[in-house]
Amino acid sequence: MAIEAKNQGVRLVLSTDKKLHLGDAIRLAAQAFEAAQLYYGHGTDNAIDEASWLLLHALKLSPVTEPDYEMLLSDEQIANCNDILTKRIEERQPAAYLTGEAWFAGLRFKSDDRALVPRSPLAEFIMDDFFDMLGNNDAPRILDLCTGGGCIAIACAYAREDAAVTGSDISEKALALAAENVHLHNVQLQVQLVHSGLFDQLSDKFDLIISNPPYVDQSDIHAMAEEFHHEPQLGLLAGEDGLDLVRDMLAQAPDYLTDNGLLVVEVGNSAAALEAAFPHLPFLWLEFSHGGSGVFVLTRQELLTPR
Ligand SMILES: C[S@@+](CC[C@H](N)C(=O)[O-])C[C@H]1O[C@@H](n2cnc3c(N)ncnc32)[C@H](O)[C@@H]1O
Repeated sequence: MAIEAKNQGVRLVLSTDKKLHLGDAIRLAAQAFEAAQLYYGHGTDNAIDEASWLLLHALKLSPVTEPDYEMLLSDEQIANCNDILTKRIEERQPAAYLTGEAWFAGLRFKSDDRALVPRSPLAEFIMDDFFDMLGNNDAPRILDLCTGGGCIAIACAYAREDAAVTGSDISEKALALAAENVHLHNVQLQVQLVHSGLFDQLSDKFDLIISNPPYVDQSDIHAMAEEFHHEPQLGLLAGEDGLDLVRDMLAQAPDYLTDNGLLVVEVGNSAAALEAAFPHLPFLWLEFSHGGSGVFVLTRQELLTPR
């Protein structure tokens, strides 16, 4: 066996005893991940993809071009692979924090524990429906409320090169990461970052307000896998029923939307609680072909529907 499990199967070591091909290393790492019952969902959804991502990073190979699976690993390369695999298993850090990067809407972003790992189904909305939903608006103004590391704001800027995008967040740390991503993508002229608790420091009107706010409720947080506990809790928790921020958004958004403006918000599995709390609002729930749910669209006029 080219793999040994130590410390009751927790510590993974790819052995240098015999020749090891990249393809074998990925397969063995994936087996170890399964045995350790890791959680996937911060960028991948299965052990093989997770193992490939980490090993290609450790080997300094591109994550976007097909590697040579027959490639023989040197002892030094195996040691580098072991470092990252051991960290993933023992510390349960999301792979994005170990590699320092994440992919969203086909774009590469810097990722670390200053902000959540990008994974919102809004990526699909931005790539597929974005143009239709914004109609024929020239130079639309877009607000990414709760921008975190800036992935949604920056993806919007790519999707509509004529858009003026604002990304806002209450966390200065998250905004520092967002600024690095804005620089990475060279969209400084198109994306402005604002330090703001919800709408506190904002005054413009926007054609689209898009948001992936915190929406995890108190009971869910305890049941969540260890990987989530490496992320800033400010980005996850939203009170007893997960709706603390969304409630305020629904109340304040009409003041920050143009007459034909749209509010698009991810609330995940707090969707049922939201429908129950606002039965008078005609939420349009988006469907995604690449997974994910709990994203609603409301027009400004719909937001003003009386209770
Ligand atoms: C779920 S994360 C989303 C990050 C990013 N938009 C994404 O999709 O990966 C939610 C973000 O909301 C921010 N946040 C929490 N409370 C806030 C508030 N009251 N006002 C503005 N931002 C807030 C957190 O700092 C965090 O970055």
